[in-house]
Amino acid sequence: MGASLDKVGVVGLGTMGAGIAEVLARSGLDVVGIEVGDEALKRGRGHLESSTGRAVKRGKLSAEEQQAILDRIELSTSFGALSDCDLVVEAVPEQLALKRRVFEQLDEVCRADAVLATNTSSLSVTEIAVSTNRPEQIVGVHFFNPAPVMKLVEIIHTVLTRPEALAVVQDLVERLGKVGVTIGDRAGFIANRLLFGYLNQAAAMYDSGHATREDIDAAMKATGLPMGPLTLMDLIGLDVSLEVCEAIYRETRDRRHAPAPILRQFVTAGLLGRKTGRGFYSYDEPAAATATAEAGTVEPPPQVGVVGSGPLAVALIRGCLRAGAHVRFVAGDTEKARAVATALEQSVAGDTEKAQAVSTALEQSVEGGTELALLAECDLIIEAVAEDTSVKRSLFAAVDDVAKPGAILATTATTVPVIELAAATDRPKDVIGLHLPDPEGELTEIATTVVTATEVARRATEYVTALGKHPVRCRDRAGFIVDALRVPYLNDAVRMLESGYARRRSDRRRDAVRLRVPDRSDRRPGPDRPGPRGGGAARPLHRAPRARVRALRTAGGAVHRGPYFPLSTGSSRTTQPPEDRRVPYDAGPLRTGSSRTAPTPAYRRDRCGPIRPVRSRSPYPERHESAQEPP
Ligand code: 3HC
Repeated sequence: MGASLDKVGVVGLGTMGAGIAEVLARSGLDVVGIEVGDEALKRGRGHLESSTGRAVKRGKLSAEEQQAILDRIELSTSFGALSDCDLVVEAVPEQLALKRRVFEQLDEVCRADAVLATNTSSLSVTEIAVSTNRPEQIVGVHFFNPAPVMKLVEIIHTVLTRPEALAVVQDLVERLGKVGVTIGDRAGFIANRLLFGYLNQAAAMYDSGHATREDIDAAMKATGLPMGPLTLMDLIGLDVSLEVCEAIYRETRDRRHAPAPILRQFVTAGLLGRKTGRGFYSYDEPAAATATAEAGTVEPPPQVGVVGSGPLAVALIRGCLRAGAHVRFVAGDTEKARAVATALEQSVAGDTEKAQAVSTALEQSVEGGTELALLAECDLIIEAVAEDTSVKRSLFAAVDDVAKPGAILATTATTVPVIELAAATDRPKDVIGLHLPDPEGELTEIATTVVTATEVARRATEYVTALGKHPVRCRDRAGFIVDALRVPYLNDAVRMLESGYARRRSDRRRDAVRLRVPDRSDRRPGPDRPGPRGGGAARPLHRAPRARVRALRTAGGAVHRGPYFPLSTGSSRTTQPPEDRRVPYDAGPLRTGSSRTAPTPAYRRDRCGPIRPVRSRSPYPERHESAQEPP
């Protein structure tokens, strides 16, 4: 039946309709494009000319081929022009009443054997089908924006669809060189059901002030997606985004699809994204549309201290060395410290530029050991130990004792709130979260608590930039930006699989469903195109290092210099901390010299050793400007 398909109609020549018409004409089909009036038809022609014109400019299409494609598309404002079409694809705005009216008209003018398809994003194909006298001939065919580029097409059957009608659309999708997935009629189908939970949460995240639009987009882009969620919503259209969220919410009552208030506000104000020149970004000023993270001036790298000995700690040290920073690392015991040194030496293998940078740095810029006192001169101290609140709290209290005034204390914790660790110190305003979704990648999420000082957040951003990373800022909330958006998305995919609606694919279709890779298989990763390491939504999640940090035991908590492992003797930096700040890592029982004894201490036995007080007094002794104060 597919072979007999010669002429296809498209109703509605907006972004999607024009894209679909172009794809059809490119495959050699004769196309009839319908719009409501002359103005709309002119706009539709404009879409077709500019999209094919872009291909000509890029040398993908000759001027003759462009003309041949445009010649195959007959434009009309009369439904009567569709009378001899084998198939008609409707692509009008996402309003059920409008779509039903269009289908009633199609039912009247089209041949009795013609298949009628809707490009709805989320509305019920069944509800559209029953508005005609041929519900068994109605199929959903859902293209993605931009239709000429995106490979995936969802093909939707209702309980009434005849297999022959479905086959017409399946054959067509194959003829177009797209990847079709055939599914039943549920709001949002597969892709939008997964995508819009994620997009809507990103809008809500922006609305709540958790992070800036640029940082949300930059963070998600750094995971390997072609564009950030807010930029993508601007591309899709905020009106379409709102409609899709509402349709899915109506069916599921899942609050993650309840449209973020800001989405409705934008739509009410007529700010619909790229097509109106303004949405989350303004497209009248080209610079504003570029999603770049706020970054300070690039300063010389800080002296960095890393506590921990697992893969994350090693990756952090390696990254800092590559950026030319001096690094001190502290491991839980001698064996672990040696393991870190060995891992660093092994990473020098090979003659890549990165290995060379680490090799040079190993000679000059790194020292390691088991004593926290090593960290006394560090500007930035990063904790990368076991994901265990009591271990981390003990460590923060001990680091607080040795770190110099003004040093920034950072945690890589993903499951412990940063504020809990800040509260274990006498300098909560100097404590931040540092999360690297990919420890070897560039993206670094900087989480500030309600008490982090503005100046500290600024300096942390500068340090991270100087360490060759890409900083994005957010508040101290579970999942920061990336995991808060991508983990529920992955969870939704698992739930969908579990419900039996969609299957897991082991072939190339799975990649298409990821919506990550448009039709450009010849593209190779490059500086501006993240490779597999960049991840993408389907990457395995970063797993926290498993290394357990053990306390060093010293008799009576006596302060002593530990067994350092200077990997070099050439360092000009001192390894000898000032006398009053030399404290072994989590050493000894209750410290008596501390001025921070809690009035009514609660006691907790740490996994790693001695009983320590858990402070119960307010950790915020002084008022200062917080990085999270409302602007
Ligand atoms: N029309 C036609 N072709 C286009 C295009 C458009 N609007 N925009 C870009 N292209 C082509 C370019 O010509 C270029 O082609 P080439 O590789 O053959 O030369 C290619 O796409 C790449 O374009 P650029 O180099 O200019 O830019 P990018 O590399 O940034 O790609 C993008 C642009 C393809 C839009 C890419 O950013 C992307 O894939 N973004 C994600 C899009 C996405 O997820 N869409 C799904 C939205 S959800 C949806 O549509 C469902 C709906 O129901 C709401």
